[in-house]
Amino acid sequence: MAMGPAPAARHFVNMSTPFIDSNGARIPLIGLGTWDLRGRTCARMVEEALKLGYRHIDTAAMYGNEQEVGEGLRASGIKRDEVFVTTKVWSSNLRAVDFERSARDSLKKLKLSSVDLLLIHWPNSSIPLKETIGALCKMKREGVARHVGVSNFDAGLVEEAVKHSTEPLVNNQIECHPYFDQTKTIAASHKRGLSVTAYSPVARGRAQGDVLLTRIGEAHGKSAAQVCLRYLVQQDLIVIPKTSRSERLRENFAIFDFKLAPAEMKQIAALASLHGSIVS
Ligand SMILES: NC(=O)c1ccc[n+]([C@@H]2O[C@H](COP(=O)([O-])OP(=O)(O)OC[C@H]3O[C@@H](n4cnc5c(N)ncnc54)[C@H](OP(=O)(O)O)[C@@H]3O)[C@@H](O)[C@H]2O)c1
Repeated sequence: MAMGPAPAARHFVNMSTPFIDSNGARIPLIGLGTWDLRGRTCARMVEEALKLGYRHIDTAAMYGNEQEVGEGLRASGIKRDEVFVTTKVWSSNLRAVDFERSARDSLKKLKLSSVDLLLIHWPNSSIPLKETIGALCKMKREGVARHVGVSNFDAGLVEEAVKHSTEPLVNNQIECHPYFDQTKTIAASHKRGLSVTAYSPVARGRAQGDVLLTRIGEAHGKSAAQVCLRYLVQQDLIVIPKTSRSERLRENFAIFDFKLAPAEMKQIAALASLHGSIVS
């Protein structure tokens, strides 16, 4: 189906968090990742993040923490319609009937009437993509999700997904940080109007010890992790760093008050390699 223009970020200084428009969705440029956050810690980090100004939370059926994410959301006192909540359906549930059950089960655990974004967590080559995309679109039509998208889809799969979809796909969530060259998948997603969410955006902590990122950070009064996140958002990529520490919630959020120079962006880009994945 026809898609809108490539996503472009709007950076408003007076807003608590800037956002990106993609195929009809308005997605906050920074969110809290929650993989590996469990129980009380998960609920507390979600609550703290929202109180700090985060307006986007990323979870998944597979993380086993949707109940706690919902608790944190309610404890924050922030109105439901001000927060962008993403969840995902795991790759073993991509048959239509399983997909629908999983998505509705996520709503029950979160205690929400809908999520803002529902993603296919990982592709599964043993199940026809057409069937899964059909189920995904049905979830949008039935109001389970306001928007739908994909995750871990490469350039070819993005094209295939768009071809099968009757609803706009708004987002592709992929591993993305300075060490991994994802240029091709990002370009293919943007070409179809899907925004890209960078998961593992601080390379699971590796950014912290990076000599180049630290040096550039010193020039801006920022940490290496902040430079890493800034590098991504400056390319209109949404970032969802995970942390279990309050001080890092603040640190990761403070990336909209400085700008990297073109030469600095270029130096950081040179860290990337096609084999730089740390996840798969
Ligand atoms: N779609 C998918 O298949 C997929 C796959 C992986 C992840 N994700 C999503 O993306 C989110 C983020 O990815 P991730 O958790 O893999 O990796 P990440 O956010 O890059 O890194 C998280 C790790 O980095 C540390 N960290 C966070 N902020 C830091 C900072 N400012 N300085 C130094 N260390 C810092 C955290 O430790 P502390 O907790 O001790 O701060 C944690 O160990 C996940 O939580 C999940 O929501 C999606």
